[in-house]
Amino acid sequence: MGVLTKKIAVLPGDGIGPEVCQEAIRVLEAVCEKFGHQFTFDTQLMGACAIDATGEPLPAQSLQACLEADAILLGAIGDPKYDHDPTATVRPEQGLLKLRKSLGLFANIRPVTAYDVLLPYSPLKEARIAGADMLFFRELTGGIYFGEKGRQGNTAYDHCTYSRIEILRIARLAFEAAESRRKKLTLVDKANVLETSRLWREVVQEIAGDYPGVAVDYLYVDNAAMQLILNPKQFDVILTENMFGDILSDEASVIAGSLGLLPSASVGEKAALFEPIHGSYPQAKGRNIANPIATILSAAMMLEHFGLQTEADLVKKAVQQALDKKILTPDLTSPAEAYTTEQVGTFIAYFVQEGADDLPHKENIEVGMSTII
Ligand code: IPM
Ligand code: MN
Repeated sequence: MGVLTKKIAVLPGDGIGPEVCQEAIRVLEAVCEKFGHQFTFDTQLMGACAIDATGEPLPAQSLQACLEADAILLGAIGDPKYDHDPTATVRPEQGLLKLRKSLGLFANIRPVTAYDVLLPYSPLKEARIAGADMLFFRELTGGIYFGEKGRQGNTAYDHCTYSRIEILRIARLAFEAAESRRKKLTLVDKANVLETSRLWREVVQEIAGDYPGVAVDYLYVDNAAMQLILNPKQFDVILTENMFGDILSDEASVIAGSLGLLPSASVGEKAALFEPIHGSYPQAKGRNIANPIATILSAAMMLEHFGLQTEADLVKKAVQQALDKKILTPDLTSPAEAYTTEQVGTFIAYFVQEGADDLPHKENIEVGMSTII
């Protein structure tokens, strides 16, 4: 792969979003420095910050910037002042949902890996989670999130609908991913109760024959929630609808050790968006304690999307080094031993740029911080 020029729209969002985005950008800049690529970053408003500034969660200018970009990096959105007000009609989440829909980002891909060095930090038994490695394909622009919703007197409703094509296009991506992995696909649904789930099963069964090497398995979502914790190693690719994927991927983060480690890519016809799966964690805002790794790994997924596998592998190696050397934020270690958001980002950027892995001390990381970027 030669030298690339890419335009990246950045939506830092709310809470810890700006802090974690800043570290991911620092890592992408280190990649550019090392490999000669040219990335430009166009920062735009979305979420509660956009409502405060413009009255809208996704201003037209932000959407336009995303449409024009080669990829989008997103931090997180959400603010307690909306969470605690169920009557609010304008909400930060509407910006994200509108963005997903407008860009046609129908597949949300969430890898979950149990990192060996973090096994002792998980509340789950080490033997149970060691070696777990799964990939969620969560449908992102349909289902109950986007169905008709409303009130009728004292009744409220949210309709869940799925069309054959909505299922087919993500199912094909999931099968293709399974072919390149351990060749197992689990469809998670609630086909014993829901009509939409029965359509999911029908479509998956129809196309399964096109992927003869892939073993297909079906699980009801309640059982899947239990199996994820009981025996996570049984899973390879998990295909599921929007709401189930939202819930199960948060649950699966316990296997990785922290929600702060899990990246995601949302892809569709053309656009591609990369974001951590965690929320805006408002309690941590501005405290330099948030884990930037989920966003940095999302940036690595962006590099893969650009076809820059060597660069992506180097970022993942740098993250692994940070974990191995216990350069960890407080979600993963005791406050006395913890490093800051900025220090973790600096270590990873430094490793990417210099290949140096001899920065075990906080003081050195601070020195490193002044010598790069
Ligand atoms: C996620 C988030 C969003 C979702 C919220 C913020 C709307 O939880 O990306 O998983 O439910 O999809
Ligand atoms: Mn979620």
